[in-house]
Amino acid sequence: MGYRFIDNNGTFELENADASSYLYFPLCNEAGLMGCVTPRSGGDLMLDQNRFILQPTSVSDLHNNKSSRNFWLRFEDGSLRSATGASVWQRAEEAAPADERYPDRKDPANAGISKGIKLRAGLLWQESTTVIRCGKSLIEAAVLNFIPADKTMAQVMRVRLKNIGDTETAFEPVAVIPMYGRSAVNLRDHRHVTSLLHRISTEKYGVRIKPTLSFDERGHLKNHTEYFTLGCDGQGKAPVAFLPTADHVIGEGGDFECPKGLMQDCRKTRGCCNDNGVEEYANTEMSGSGVAVGKTFEGVEAAGGLIFEKCCLTSGESAEYIVFIGAREEDDPFNAPDAIMERLGNSQKIENALEANKAFWLEKARAGLGMKEKAVPDRLSSDLSDEGSATLSSKRQNFMLWVAAEPVLRRIFGCSFLPYHDYGKGGRGWRDLWQDCLALMLADPSDVRDLLINNFAGVRADGTNATIIGSRPGEFIADRNGIARVWMDHGVWPWITMQLYIELSHDTGILATEQVYFKDRLCKRARDVDDEDGRPDAESDNSCRSGNEEDNSKTLLRDSEGKVYRGTLLEHILLMHITAACDVGEHGNMLLRGADWNDALDMADRRGESVAFTAAYAGNMKTLAKTVAEMGGKVSLLAELFELIGGLYEICKNFPETNGRKQQESKAFGTGTVAACAEQKRALLDVYCEKVRHTVSGKTIETESAVLAEMLDFIAESIMTDIRENEMLSFGDLKWFNGYYDNEGERVENLEDGRLMLTGAVFTLMSGTAPDEIIDSMIGAADRYLLQNRIGGYRLNTRFENEEAYAHKLGRMFGFAYGSKENGAVFCHMAVMYAYALLLRGRKEAAEKVIDLLIGQSMDFEKARIYPGIPEYFDINGRGMYPYLTGAASWLLLYHYRVGK
Ligand code: G1P
Repeated sequence: MGYRFIDNNGTFELENADASSYLYFPLCNEAGLMGCVTPRSGGDLMLDQNRFILQPTSVSDLHNNKSSRNFWLRFEDGSLRSATGASVWQRAEEAAPADERYPDRKDPANAGISKGIKLRAGLLWQESTTVIRCGKSLIEAAVLNFIPADKTMAQVMRVRLKNIGDTETAFEPVAVIPMYGRSAVNLRDHRHVTSLLHRISTEKYGVRIKPTLSFDERGHLKNHTEYFTLGCDGQGKAPVAFLPTADHVIGEGGDFECPKGLMQDCRKTRGCCNDNGVEEYANTEMSGSGVAVGKTFEGVEAAGGLIFEKCCLTSGESAEYIVFIGAREEDDPFNAPDAIMERLGNSQKIENALEANKAFWLEKARAGLGMKEKAVPDRLSSDLSDEGSATLSSKRQNFMLWVAAEPVLRRIFGCSFLPYHDYGKGGRGWRDLWQDCLALMLADPSDVRDLLINNFAGVRADGTNATIIGSRPGEFIADRNGIARVWMDHGVWPWITMQLYIELSHDTGILATEQVYFKDRLCKRARDVDDEDGRPDAESDNSCRSGNEEDNSKTLLRDSEGKVYRGTLLEHILLMHITAACDVGEHGNMLLRGADWNDALDMADRRGESVAFTAAYAGNMKTLAKTVAEMGGKVSLLAELFELIGGLYEICKNFPETNGRKQQESKAFGTGTVAACAEQKRALLDVYCEKVRHTVSGKTIETESAVLAEMLDFIAESIMTDIRENEMLSFGDLKWFNGYYDNEGERVENLEDGRLMLTGAVFTLMSGTAPDEIIDSMIGAADRYLLQNRIGGYRLNTRFENEEAYAHKLGRMFGFAYGSKENGAVFCHMAVMYAYALLLRGRKEAAEKVIDLLIGQSMDFEKARIYPGIPEYFDINGRGMYPYLTGAASWLLLYHYRVGK
């Protein structure tokens, strides 16, 4: 069991792919068509949240939803079999005892015949092969799914049928694609009513659906999108008839896996047909052999049913059919049916498009691994080598190609639109965007320069930021769900990413580049709204900045004279750090606010603190100080920010006793000097935020880089000292850092009780806060409490005794079953960051152990049950969950890059 790589381009084969649950393969192109496909061609396809071409598919629908892409063979006796295997007859065969299933299995002629679905897949295409038996007919069916790498807004489904029996066989080939054609919300919200909007027509090559209106979150809008299924045979010949509605296919009492419409000669259906050019909208007699070109139907669920000319195959003979499933805007000529057929409508053209698709994705993946030279053409071949199996190192290389493709996938999908990722509405979250840039720039830093500069336009004057970034440059949304929430870690990621950019490109000049700031009604780090602003509040989703210049002007920060204010990127970065450093809680650490990296720590908005990210910010300030010192000369900063930095520096200087206070044993923890110092920082922040509430002065102050660097370093050191003094935990030989305070102001972690979270260790290590001499004791604690080899390594946390209480005073993660997602799973993103931190701190052996465990688990199909690539996490049984869209991939590539250096 398990897949095996068959070349050096990431191509793999998996026997009996249908014997594992929850498998899906991503399909997409950079033009924005997305989807996924299961071994039996289930899964969905969409342009965005409001334009799903195929019905949205959550993970539990993958195997229970009968609305899959299908391709039927209707034999002369009326028997039906599916080329994808999705038919009641084939499923029944599978369920039957082996003896009944394969009575002829001892027959040497059948010895080599695969019994299940054999999957072969590569970057970025999937082909499933199955053997169809019907009477004396024996046909091998290979169904290929991919999306051309150009601007084509249609996926290709190519079906190759080969007669592998010894008798001639004849059948009618019928493609059936259940078309959805509307917003994801309509799956539950007005599913039937929205089918009434459908206008369906049969055209030369297929079926077109053009809903009159689009009913979605934005209201009832005129619809401009057409959904379609087109098809031809290998020679480009159009279908001979169509089954354009679901009723045509399933008939009365059937379904998409038992399509009674295809079984009957004559039946009744709802909808309409106009046999004589007269449109009738009543129950109409309709033949199972379909309708001709030029018919229209309305108000019913649609199907892309294409009946091809009867096919007769002698032994050894093959036939090929090509189906296009897609959507286009009515004014997009490139994706008009004729244009698609002209570009792609025969076997050779599809073969060329497939090769172009393979080359495109392979180049992307190789670039992510620093392989700049083009792949040698003959290595593009997916043919099995002589002995077929790859060596261990080439297995890992192949695996890493898939990891390298993942950030590209997340750039296209965001964190939505794959079956586990059945949330969000597209766009990318702030922290994911920045971390994915790490990987993208490893491929080519020059490619991301503009992207980086552009992203900074999402920063507000109070140091917070718009949280959702759209796919067009300059497109920001404060928060799609109207939740005025601050993720306190957001300020950390841009500088981490910029450092790598500068390291790779030596382009320090980028820090002096000027950029605008984001302005909406939220102010004072989302604790207040700016009434003078005049814009509707964030809740109405109008704080969106689109790619359109005119709209953007409404969300630009201005100075007191009304001029758009621009500051350097360095200023943006400093602003994010200094404001965060002042936004502290009673124990002197930065407030957790809405959450930090761990999205599920969302229940400690008032008193929660993240020591983990306090350390991360301090580490950043240290490296910022170094960069500023190296820049030399003078730095020009917004006057208000300059004052804020000065103020914070003074507070840190005036409270030297906080740098060395021994509060661990003190009962009065959280009071006295620590609390007073924290209060001063917050008051300083308040004054600053008040000043920049509506506009900024626009005045700048010049300072010597050396002076600024010195101040930053001092502030950073003071924060780190506080953490070292107050948050270090000891138990026997073991050491750890407490990472959090809860909403009751209580310290969360405790080494003695085994209450540990990995995040605090990762960021105290990565930032340099953890002193070198305790690192081995920290590794010891992680090994003792968090390591579980069987499921891929280091868990995100141990099991807390009173989880329910923590769910209310720290975060929803404690409501998740232990061992899943953020509650105690092996969460790959944090585990890889742990390895990276160990590597930075010179513990390569320990780091490699973390990585080997993660990769080993990912590649162990029997346990992980995922295709190649690193998933978001491994659950309590070691199964890989949420594959393809995870920050773990970007960090694994960064790790790979550092080790290779
Ligand atoms: C996901 C989110 C990421 C978040 C993390 C922890 O992680 O995308 O923003 O920080 O959960 O809550 P990922 O799968 O990207 O590793």
